[in-house]
Amino acid sequence: MTDYIPHPQIAVLDTGGQYTHLIARKIRELGVYAEVLPSETPAAELRNRRGLIISGGPASVYEEGSPTIDPAALIAGPAVLGICYGQQLMAHLLGGTVRKGDKGEYGQATFDLQKDSLLFRNASGSQQIWMSHRDTVETPPAGFEVLGKTETCTIAAVADEARRLYGVQFHPEVVHTRNGRQILTNFLFDICGCQPDWDPRHRVPLVEDGIREVVGDRNVFFFVSGGVDSTVAFTLCLKALGTERVSGFYVDTGLMREGETAFVRNLFRTLGSESFMVEEAGDQFLGALGGVIDPEEKRHIIGEQFVAVQDRILRTGHFLEGAWILGQGTIYPDTIESGGTAKADLIKTHHNRVAGIQKLMEEGRIIEPLTYFYKDEVREIGRELGLPAEFLDRHPFPGPGLAIRCLCSGEEASPTPLEGGWMIPVHSVGVQGDMRSYRPVLAIRGGQREATKLINLRSEINRVVSEIRTIAPIAEMRVRPATLTADRLERLRKADAAVRSLSESSGFEDHVWQFPVILIPFGTEAAPDSVVLRPIDSVDGMTAQSVPMDPQLLNQMTHEILQVPGIAGVFYDLTHKPPGTIEWE
Ligand code: XMP
Repeated sequence: MTDYIPHPQIAVLDTGGQYTHLIARKIRELGVYAEVLPSETPAAELRNRRGLIISGGPASVYEEGSPTIDPAALIAGPAVLGICYGQQLMAHLLGGTVRKGDKGEYGQATFDLQKDSLLFRNASGSQQIWMSHRDTVETPPAGFEVLGKTETCTIAAVADEARRLYGVQFHPEVVHTRNGRQILTNFLFDICGCQPDWDPRHRVPLVEDGIREVVGDRNVFFFVSGGVDSTVAFTLCLKALGTERVSGFYVDTGLMREGETAFVRNLFRTLGSESFMVEEAGDQFLGALGGVIDPEEKRHIIGEQFVAVQDRILRTGHFLEGAWILGQGTIYPDTIESGGTAKADLIKTHHNRVAGIQKLMEEGRIIEPLTYFYKDEVREIGRELGLPAEFLDRHPFPGPGLAIRCLCSGEEASPTPLEGGWMIPVHSVGVQGDMRSYRPVLAIRGGQREATKLINLRSEINRVVSEIRTIAPIAEMRVRPATLTADRLERLRKADAAVRSLSESSGFEDHVWQFPVILIPFGTEAAPDSVVLRPIDSVDGMTAQSVPMDPQLLNQMTHEILQVPGIAGVFYDLTHKPPGTIEWE
C-alpha cells in the first residue's frame, strides 16, 4: 500500500515542536515529498535522504531527557537544516554552546543578513522573520560561520557550507517570515539537490491501485461522519472498487446541526453509494449525558458512547465475517503521536481503539488510504475526485457536536457589576500560557479594543462578550441550573440554523473560518437561555481572531434568534484565542 508515495527525499526530525507538521507541509507544497520521523531515528536509516530538517521544540538542549538526534546523522551525507531548537541541538552536538535565555523572543523581528550563503539566495538584506524561542546559540561549532542576527539574537543563522550544515533560529515555515518560502526552496533545490516529485492530485490512480491490492476480492465498510476525511477515503474506495462493494455507516448522535443527517444522506446518494446506513443513537447519547455539567466529563461520555455504538455495529453486523474489511479516513498527522496532536484527534483516537477495530487491525482487515496525506492534500484529492467545493470547504465542526456548545450549570447565580459591564457567572474554557482556564465571562457594551484591554487587566475572567440585545435588563437576568435536554438542544439548533442561513445568504460565511453559536443558561424565568455568536478567523484552529460583523447583518441575526422561544439575549464573543478557546467547552 506504500507504493503510491515516492521515496521521501526529505525527513523532518520531530523534536516535539508545534510546527513540525507545518514544516513537512511546506516542503510538500514546494513539490517535494517529506515525511516526519522521530528525532532519534538512527543515522543509518536516514542515509538515503537528500536532506534532513531538525524541527523546533519546546525543550532546552542541556535539560535532562531533552530530545536529541543520532549525532552520526550530521555526518551521514544528507544536508541538514536545523530550525530553532534544531539549530541549537546541532550546535550543541558539534561542540558549540547554547545560552539559556530567560526572557525569550516571540513574534515578528527583523533579521539582518551579514554574510551571503546559498541558503539566503534571493533573500538578502534586512527582512521580517518570525521568532519563538528562549535559548540561543552562544558559540557556533568549529567550521561554522554566523550568517545574520536580530536585535536581540546575535546568532540567528549559521552555516558550514562545506559540510552542508545550516541552522536558523527563526521559523522559515511560518508565513510571517517574509522570505521563508525562498529559504526553504534554496535548501531543497540548491543545497539538497531535490527533484520535484510531489503533487497529491497525481497520486489518485496510484492510491486506487493500492486500495484494489489490499482489499483483493473483499468488500469495505466505513463509519462516516460527513466530514472531509472519511468522505474522501470512502469516495476513493468507491472509485477503486465500484459502488456495490463499499458501504457507509453514519451514527446519528442527536447532537448534530439542523439538517445534517439529511445532508450526509444526500451527499452519499450523490456519490453513488448503494449502501448507506444511518444508526439512530440520539436517545442513547442524550441518556448518557443526562444531568452532566462538567465540560470534560461531557466530552468523555460522548467518546465512550461512540465507541459503544461502533462496537455494537461491528458485533451485530455481518461485517466481521470474511468478506468485509473496515475503511477509515485516518490522515497523516493522526498517525504520528508527538507534535501538535490537536484535541480534535481525541475522538478519532477513541474510534481507532474500539476493541473490534483493534482486532481487525491485527488481522490485516483495515484499509486507510489517506494515511500519507495532510488535510489540505486530502481536499485536493477530493477536488480531483469531483467532490463539490461547498462540501470540501465546509467549516470544521467538532465531533462532540452541539453538546459542547450547549452550556450547563449546577446552581443559580446572579451577574455582578464589573468594569462598567457585568460579570456573568457562566464558566467557559480558555488557554492562558499553555494552561487550560475555566472562568466566568464579562459582558460589556464596548467593542474589540476595550475587550482586549479588559481581558489583559482582569485575571478573574478569560472571555469578554459584547451585549447586543436582551429582552430584560442584565441586572434582572440569572444563571439557572440547566442540563443537556432535548428542549435546550432544539433551542440551540434553531438559533444555529437561523444564524447559518443568514451567514450563508449574506456571504459572511466565506469571511470566517468557523462560526460556533453557543447556548448559555442565562436569562429570565420565561426565557432561560441566551445565545452567543462566535465568528472567528483562523488558519488551523490553534490560534484564532474574533471577526467583526456588519451591524445590519448582526441586527438581522439578533432579530431572528430572539424569535426562538426561550431565548432572552444575544451576545457577541470578542475574545481571541488565546486567551479564549474557539469552543466554549
Ligand atoms: P478549541 O475550542 O480548542 O478548538 O479552540 C479548536 C478547533 O478544534 C475543534 N474542536 C474539536 N473537533 N472534536 C473535534 O473533532 C473535538 O472534540 C473538538 N473540540 C474542539 C473546534 O471546533 C475548533 O475548530
